[in-house]
Amino acid sequence: MCGIVGYVGVKQAAPILLSGLMRLEYRGYDSAGIAVRNDSAEHIEVVKAKGRLKNLMDMTDSGRAVAGCCGIGHTRWATHGEPSVLNAHPHFSEEKRVVAVHNGIIENYQEIAETLKKKGYVVKSQTDTEVAVLLLDSYYAENAKKGMNSCERALDAITHLMNRVRGSYALGILFGDQPGVIYAARKDSPLIIGQCTAEERGNLIASDVPAVLGLTRNIIYMENYEIARLTQDEIHLYNMDGEEIEKPVVSIQWDETAAEKDGYEHFMMKEIHEQPRAVRDTLSPRIKEDEQGEYIDLSELPWKQEDFAELSRVVIVGCGSAYHVGCAARYVIESLAAIPCEVDLASEFRYRSPIMDEQSLVIIISQSGETADSLAALRLCRERGVKTLAIVNVVGSSIAREADAVIYTWAGPEIAVATTKAFSTQLIVVYLLAIKLAAAKGRIDRSREAELAREMLSLPEKMERVLSDKERVQWFANKMSVCKDVFFVGRGMDYAISMEGSLKLKEISYIHSEAYAAGELKHGTISLIEDGVLVVGIATQPDLFEKVMSNMVEVRSRGAYLFGLTTYGQYAIEDIVNFTVYVPRTEKLFSTSLAIIPLQLLAYYISCAKGLDVDKPRNLAKSVTVE
Ligand code: AGP
Repeated sequence: MCGIVGYVGVKQAAPILLSGLMRLEYRGYDSAGIAVRNDSAEHIEVVKAKGRLKNLMDMTDSGRAVAGCCGIGHTRWATHGEPSVLNAHPHFSEEKRVVAVHNGIIENYQEIAETLKKKGYVVKSQTDTEVAVLLLDSYYAENAKKGMNSCERALDAITHLMNRVRGSYALGILFGDQPGVIYAARKDSPLIIGQCTAEERGNLIASDVPAVLGLTRNIIYMENYEIARLTQDEIHLYNMDGEEIEKPVVSIQWDETAAEKDGYEHFMMKEIHEQPRAVRDTLSPRIKEDEQGEYIDLSELPWKQEDFAELSRVVIVGCGSAYHVGCAARYVIESLAAIPCEVDLASEFRYRSPIMDEQSLVIIISQSGETADSLAALRLCRERGVKTLAIVNVVGSSIAREADAVIYTWAGPEIAVATTKAFSTQLIVVYLLAIKLAAAKGRIDRSREAELAREMLSLPEKMERVLSDKERVQWFANKMSVCKDVFFVGRGMDYAISMEGSLKLKEISYIHSEAYAAGELKHGTISLIEDGVLVVGIATQPDLFEKVMSNMVEVRSRGAYLFGLTTYGQYAIEDIVNFTVYVPRTEKLFSTSLAIIPLQLLAYYISCAKGLDVDKPRNLAKSVTVE
């Protein structure tokens, strides 16, 4: 959701900004722009375009036509004001005294705009960002009268701005009279700094690591209320008191190719195929073996066995697919550990009065670690003194840093907007936690723990087997790409997976779909079933198989066309449904990990058959950093 890139160095900035922005395309956007300056001149060239980055590339000959070695770029996902060139970033004040890009929302922008009008400023766009830029301009101009040097003047103006605005922001700023310098500031919107080697000479800012990987793997994560000043050879960081602060430089282990398609037509397909590897990487360091067999090792957490044993309640919070992981986790945790487990949407969690005490554990699940609602839910729990655990994919992200403890999912960078491999690794982490809790509570003995651990270790190979049958799903998807309505139904854990299958389909194929607990159909929804409606029935739980089949018969007799998803051996399904996909048998609590793959493939192939933009579906952003 909005992407920022900035570069100052010895190379031409515009091509670097554009290629960095392309690596942030996954975040979702509807317009883009760059501002580049020539070191010697005060002139700053701003080029903006509505729509895809390609339009900006065409206007600038892929950046080659814009001279200068210092600049900032932005992809905008419209919040205030329609997608247009006027509303696209960078925004600037008169004579380009201040030029800036912004990710986030300035909540009190209307009130600030009124004040600015009285001072003679004219706000041209409909954006909150332009208001922040003009306000910064006014502070910067006031400071000119105070005899400060250029750095003090800028830092003071930025700090003043940060104190005055409410909301969230990551900012990249150029001051017209400071060539070769980029300033950056953040609160509640991600921003990192990339530091090139001394030989390469250059520094960058970006919303996310992939944007800078073409030039460096050395990263500094900016925290809330920090300000950075970058020149081609130096990076200085300051707190809100204007004091210089030291921050560690982290070396990123994965490289540029991890964020490339690797021969696949789309990132989503690549990421679907990476699931066995991602699951293995997430699992193997956490399963150890001693003379009694395999056991779960979560020693990365700051809690001991007794701390787990004391827990009386687990609350799982997330958005979208992360919430669906929570829905599946509830069955696993309650079944294995017999601890009450509640699941909530992060966007709702804060608006009720969640009941939590010191024996509660709140688990926040998030791929990006930056989702605004999930972060807000985490902060609420921390204010209330409740233990928090983050399950996060992006190392160093806000949720990972702010939670009491974090378990990373080692999925690697996920670029496609529709999550696949991050979802699968999140499931793995909740299984590990459920087993750990069950063992701590004395609900399972060492031999059961070892048995479950071994079964988990077999999942990557079983996932490979599901993937090897993908053409079968492709054939069915091609046939079904004209569908208008699809229902996903299941019971128990299969209901949780129905929700994820339905979300996958709607987000990338734009087909209306709904997930229902199969037993609920009769209570209203069955009235929507008519000739040709596709119903996907998921029945991986042996004890619920027959019940789901009865529900399938009910919809078949009303004209529905049926896709059945079950495990090998449940061949009775062939008598009921029109098309079946089988997944290998596994422990029933882990079957979600296998059943999700055909559903991801179904959504993927339907999206391809409809000729849609699989990786960047309309209106969606990878990382939802606004509420
Ligand atoms: C999943 O395919 C979606 N793109 C979306 O629902 C996503 O899971 C949700 O926005 C949460 O994101 P997070 O995991 O980064 O917090």
